[in-house]
Amino acid sequence: MHIFDRKGELIAQLQLERNKNRTVGLVPTMGALHQGHLSLVKKAVLENDVVVVSVFVNPTQFDQKEDLEKYPRNLDQDLDLLKSVGPNILVFTPNANEIYGEDVVSKSYDFDGLDQVMEGAFRTGHFDGVGTVVELFLTTVAPDRAYFGEKDFQQLQIIKKLVDTRQLPYTIVGCPIEREAHGLAMSSRNERLSQTTREEAGFIYKTLKTAKFKFGTESAKEITDWVSSQFAENSTLELEYFEIAEEDTLTPMTEKTANQKYRAFIAVYADGVRLIDNLRLN
Ligand code: PAF
Repeated sequence: MHIFDRKGELIAQLQLERNKNRTVGLVPTMGALHQGHLSLVKKAVLENDVVVVSVFVNPTQFDQKEDLEKYPRNLDQDLDLLKSVGPNILVFTPNANEIYGEDVVSKSYDFDGLDQVMEGAFRTGHFDGVGTVVELFLTTVAPDRAYFGEKDFQQLQIIKKLVDTRQLPYTIVGCPIEREAHGLAMSSRNERLSQTTREEAGFIYKTLKTAKFKFGTESAKEITDWVSSQFAENSTLELEYFEIAEEDTLTPMTEKTANQKYRAFIAVYADGVRLIDNLRLN
């Protein structure tokens, strides 16, 4: 495993790898790695000769200063975890200036409406920040494949759109959500929950699974009302939004259309920590 904090050094190393015809995978992360991240890294290691894992808490994608400050950081532990996955990993740990230069600001993107709903509606500027940093990582590393988790399904669709619109020659690979024993989707933010809340937050996945069952016979409105009533009775978890949307366009579902794929999306606060999850419905 090699660690780089300078872009130029990483690019030089990647050039050496390319000269040997080695394929390159990229797993962008914000650190505080868990089994969910490691499943992405393991897949990338299986499918590429060399894998770049970036560890960078990207300031431009946070709309709340406090959320950025409280975002968990543990580089030593991250490096130990990555070492356990395999030798051909290049860890990229830049600081904000190395990535952005003097002006740590986002570009402005047109994601064809994908950024106007759910996370985009509740976190102003979030997807411009994600788009900016992911585009910088993609163009710096120029990977054969880049890996993103489906927990951030809206982000995954937006990154696919970005690559498509900019005609970037990189394959974007979506990876399934990994869950804790009680069903909570794995996330770096889970570290900020008490053990009791962490277990109780399994309720989010349980509700999504019931929503999926109801999807067979009930309308989006009926299911949404039912989900709201479930959270109204829960004193630990506060519902921010629940939405049933088309998987490709993320347009909220009004009526079921044949051959259309739908997914339920949810955002919840627990112990002041924002948790998101989603589940394919059909
Ligand atoms: O999903 C994340 O951890 C981040 O949004 C990403 C893709 C690493 C960009 O900062």
